[in-house]
Amino acid sequence: MKATNYPWESALRAKFPTPATEGIHEFYFSLDGGGRELIIDAIRSHDVRLMIEVGSFLCGSTLQWFEASSTLAIIGIDPWSANFASILDRYRDNPVFDPCFAKIEHRGEFIDSVRQHGPFLSAMANVRKHADRFIPVRASSPEVLEELAALSVMPDMIYFDSNKLLDDLSVARRLFPDATLCGDDWTWGAEQGFPVQVAVKDFCSRFGLNYRAHRATWIIDNPKTS
Ligand SMILES: C[S@@+](CC[C@H](N)C(=O)[O-])C[C@H]1O[C@@H](n2cnc3c(N)ncnc32)[C@H](O)[C@@H]1O
Repeated sequence: MKATNYPWESALRAKFPTPATEGIHEFYFSLDGGGRELIIDAIRSHDVRLMIEVGSFLCGSTLQWFEASSTLAIIGIDPWSANFASILDRYRDNPVFDPCFAKIEHRGEFIDSVRQHGPFLSAMANVRKHADRFIPVRASSPEVLEELAALSVMPDMIYFDSNKLLDDLSVARRLFPDATLCGDDWTWGAEQGFPVQVAVKDFCSRFGLNYRAHRATWIIDNPKTS
């Protein structure tokens, strides 16, 4: 399974093993709100080799990053503990989510499979063919970021797509000062005053950084790589 040759990889995989997923059907379901070409362009132009993704869900976004680069390895952080099947049940007949279901032939079969196997095994089956370059860290951010830093993990990029609080942005900068920070949910939460926009703009003004946003995606320019 080990293929990336990072010195910390064996220890991390021992603590967070990849489960066997034989017999579980794989699906491509990405909660893609648009603009991810910003991330794909940055992965390619900055030759990103190691990415931390906070909030992997069913690893649809993870597959998008893997398809962008054959030399990319990803540490996916997610507790994989929520009831994903009931979340998908809510999305199933909402036309807003039709693009996310575009590659799913039978929505009912897909959701039944997620219900039967649960969030973690379902997600792992979806990235099975990239298991040598995907490490599932079944835990919560920001707490587990400290653990990764203690192992001397040094990501080139961190993609945030979890709880909309972005309480991990400052922690990430402190622990991984060279990483490019980016994420999702730019357009989420009109009634709550677009909390991700507020957090990113505040963070950038505190540290004198520039950001770019397109549709749901945002990326903070990294002075070390741009
Ligand atoms: C919007 S979904 C991610 C969608 C996925 N990136 C995609 O594009 O298909 C949010 C995910 O964040 C996870 N999550 C929630 N709180 C988290 C936390 N504190 N740390 C890591 N993941 C978290 C949830 O379990 C859920 O799978």
